[in-house]
Amino acid sequence: MSDAASRVVETLRPLLGDRLATSEAVRAHHSRDMSRLPARMPDAVVFPRTEEEVQAIVQACAREGVPIVAFGAGSSMEGHTIPIRGGISVDTREMNAIVEVRPEDFLAVVQPGVTRKQLNEHLRDTGMMFSVDPGADASLGGMASTRGSGTTAVRYGTMRENVMALRVVLADGTVVHTGSRAKKSSTGYDLTHLFVGAEGTLGIITELTMRLHPIPETVSSAVCAFETVKDAVEAVIATVQYGIPVARVEFMDEVAVAATNNYSKLDLKVAPTLFFEFHGTPAWVAEQSEIAEAVTREYGGQDFRWSTDPEERARLWQARHDSYFATKAIKPGYDLYTGDICVPISRLAESILASREDIDASPLTGQIIGHVGDGNFHTAYLIDPDDPEHLAEADRLAERAIERALAVGGTASGEHGVGTEKIKHMRKEHGDAVDVMKRIKAALDPDGLMNPGKMGHAG
Ligand code: MLT
Ligand code: ZN
Repeated sequence: MSDAASRVVETLRPLLGDRLATSEAVRAHHSRDMSRLPARMPDAVVFPRTEEEVQAIVQACAREGVPIVAFGAGSSMEGHTIPIRGGISVDTREMNAIVEVRPEDFLAVVQPGVTRKQLNEHLRDTGMMFSVDPGADASLGGMASTRGSGTTAVRYGTMRENVMALRVVLADGTVVHTGSRAKKSSTGYDLTHLFVGAEGTLGIITELTMRLHPIPETVSSAVCAFETVKDAVEAVIATVQYGIPVARVEFMDEVAVAATNNYSKLDLKVAPTLFFEFHGTPAWVAEQSEIAEAVTREYGGQDFRWSTDPEERARLWQARHDSYFATKAIKPGYDLYTGDICVPISRLAESILASREDIDASPLTGQIIGHVGDGNFHTAYLIDPDDPEHLAEADRLAERAIERALAVGGTASGEHGVGTEKIKHMRKEHGDAVDVMKRIKAALDPDGLMNPGKMGHAG
């Protein structure tokens, strides 16, 4: 540990006691996230419970010039929480209080370590729900920081649409409150949405005001197989362009379906497949499901089986959420190299088909799944971590997919974020706006201590 980090530990020990850890095991847990990216140990890990404690931690680090990296549930996909320059990992898991719920105003105020499942359990009797569902039981602070989304964004929006207000400890220890409880506002720079997606590079979120939605009276889901990837994706484009208000529409290619059948013990037909979900009153759900069925049939969709059985639905969505693990299980010992591009919906079919063709022409095994109602899809390539040619080939495929996305006005990441690896695409995507981002970073974090080496520093 550096002398500076030791001094931070000495300063914080009396305040935090055993909520300051330097053991190998705890540091190792905070050295990585869900990605394949190389681990790097923090010097120490702290577990604050209050905003005042976060402030004290940030001030101690600022005095000594020690990096500060916020850590939620560790489920980020791009190395966001890896302390690539060492320093203090600030684990928010003990900041897990639900401060206030106001169903009548459709909002809840929470600390950043509250997870999405915890919030939904808590809300159950209120008739409200928190909608954003990335699959993992991520922390809300982490989801806000990565501007996460997932399967329900097509209907309810991403974290961008669902964070109303924040409290944030800045790099100098100042606390700011951004946003309001009003549904809309036309005052001031939109600082809430500056911190949403900042990946902990501008400050540490200590409280979030989240938008809630009524729990739908009826939920129905359907699975539908297609002859070709093109048919499946064109069916989605038509569904979205018809304005059918799907709550979720997810795509899985054949490789993903076969892996899911194995891993989750399902017997889905091994074919390009769409999973749909509809929310609303029974009559509305029945009508929308029928329209969607008619649209999918036009594109050769087979066996559009829809069901309102909660158990069947839960099994299906759990299987979809476990897709990442199912794919990893295809080749034990291999890493998953994931992509996350997002394109305008009209360019989705050509983008997915080109990525699928690239995989077919490559020696790597790969699959495509996606939150296709948003034009967002994930490529996943299985790579042998000990074979540098595999990594080079995955880099090449990912690069091609991103180049194609940017060429049609898309983005290098729809929901996973920038982390350490997507920085190299920032200038291609944002041009000179990257320099504005750097100026914002320099203004708010002049010593570069907030999650250093990530967004705002490089690119
Ligand atoms: C998902 O959609 O399942 C997640 O974003 C993780 C993944 O890329 O597989
Ligand atoms: Zn996803």
